Amino acid sequence: MCSTIKSGTKAYMGLYPEGSTDGGLRLGNIVPDFAMDTTQGKFDSFHEWKKGKWAILFGHPADFTPVCTTEIGRLALKYDKLFEMGCLVATLSVDSVKSHKKWLEDVVAHCENKIEIKFPIIGDQDRSISVAYGMIDPGNLDEQKLPLTIRAVFIINPENKLMLSLNYPACVGRNMDEIVRCVEALQLSYEKSIATPANWPNNHADIAMPDGTRTNEFKGSVFLLPTVSAEEAAERYPGYHSCSVPSGKNYLRLVKKDEVESAAV
Ligand code: BEZ
Repeated sequence: MCSTIKSGTKAYMGLYPEGSTDGGLRLGNIVPDFAMDTTQGKFDSFHEWKKGKWAILFGHPADFTPVCTTEIGRLALKYDKLFEMGCLVATLSVDSVKSHKKWLEDVVAHCENKIEIKFPIIGDQDRSISVAYGMIDPGNLDEQKLPLTIRAVFIINPENKLMLSLNYPACVGRNMDEIVRCVEALQLSYEKSIATPANWPNNHADIAMPDGTRTNEFKGSVFLLPTVSAEEAAERYPGYHSCSVPSGKNYLRLVKKDEVESAAV
């Protein structure tokens, strides 16, 4: 009989404390709640706004700046896909909501894809949200010009826990494909005992089989976690392939994405 060790991103992240011991925000923590004034109106609680859904909180340094203008435009192009994945989006800077609304006219014009900005942009003028999320150091709270909020991405699960964060400096614009890829990887691995390889889904496009032939059929496949025993692997993922390595250890166990999606756990 199989021993069922709970694994996957949800279980793994549950091993971390819901609140950090030193006040810093880390993966696995419940993210700080806040009231928000946005381009779509005022909301008493971020947690209530995203209730039961995945969400991306996306901090940008400032309105009327070039990189941010392209980032919001490119994020808008991903909005419908993220929404279909059950993932809401909210962005934020330390500018006022009035400034955001004026700036969005430029964002839409510059993007040239006839975009609609369907997500709210939060005005964090007192910098309290930026400080709570570590996007600005509390030591900079009173400096109302520079430095500004870093380019931060927080991907938050339906239970309001931080699952993934990305931090970029002002001079490096983010890649929206990577952000969507992260949400896809988190959702695929959320309740299944798998992990996505480097560069997934562009991975293992050409691998050796035991009979010496090569195959592309495992392109985009994922790894079984080490918590899955050999018996469990054979029972739940009968199509898995173990890559041969000099150590002889069977830890590089590939499973096709379709098989993961249809597996019970
Ligand atoms: C920008 O979005 O282009 C930007 C914002 C703040 C500092 C530097 C660049």
